[in-house]
Amino acid sequence: MQVVILESPEAVAEYGAHIFIRHLQKKPQAVLGLATGSTPVALYQKLIQANQQGDISFQDVTTYNLDEYLGLAGDHPQSYRYFMNQQLFDHIDINKANTFVPPGSASNPILACDEYEQMIEQSGGIDIQLLGIGRNGHIGFNEPSSGLLSRTRVKTLTQATIDDNARFFSADEYQPHLSITMGIGTIQDSQQVVLLATGSGKADAIYRTVEGPMSASCPASALQMHQNAVIVIDEEAAAQLEHKEFYKHIERENQTLLAQLGY
Ligand code: GLP
Repeated sequence: MQVVILESPEAVAEYGAHIFIRHLQKKPQAVLGLATGSTPVALYQKLIQANQQGDISFQDVTTYNLDEYLGLAGDHPQSYRYFMNQQLFDHIDINKANTFVPPGSASNPILACDEYEQMIEQSGGIDIQLLGIGRNGHIGFNEPSSGLLSRTRVKTLTQATIDDNARFFSADEYQPHLSITMGIGTIQDSQQVVLLATGSGKADAIYRTVEGPMSASCPASALQMHQNAVIVIDEEAAAQLEHKEFYKHIERENQTLLAQLGY
């Protein structure tokens, strides 16, 4: 894993956005895996800006989102489809027909999960998967105990996740406790994974992801087995890492090497 520790949430968004921008400039027909939650919002703003300045285009891009609440249709303001439209798709030159979010209102969600897997495969697989992380170490909605080779499926949310996400729902609003999520195996199949985390609330989850044993009790720790996972975090999220200075040293060496090679 490449662990990149930066000064601020702003720098985290900038670093993450840069990975996507460089990739889109090299491969305009990229297949991107996208995430919801508050963490990726600043990165999306930078992608919107780059698109509006003409630095990148999304015209030939296909996207797959990680997850969706089961029981919410795409026009529900708390659905992840709605979130993606609001935070990204409505502001860039993407063809919305090429943007996919697991169908939260599918009449047969089990079948829909298999279809989602097939669609990703038919698109040629995901080039870069963006991830946030839950305080309990979940990625997508792969809650603790998720199989490390799991595929897209219906997943029950933990009470901790329901509580964490309650802030997005009004008191009298129905908050789903089930989801459809890409599995950990699905995420692992992407060519590159970029996980962003900021703030002290994520420090324990980041410690367990990077330095803990690989375990289903911290689903993000499965990324220890990924061939190209970049963990981009701010100082607060890095606070519990034992080898923080070493990761910073590696990143400086990487940057020096890339500069020498002209990247
Ligand atoms: C939800 C999403 C995750 C996201 C997590 C953290 O549970 N399903 O994909 O990583 O929230 O969200 P935030 O970035 O708001 O902390």
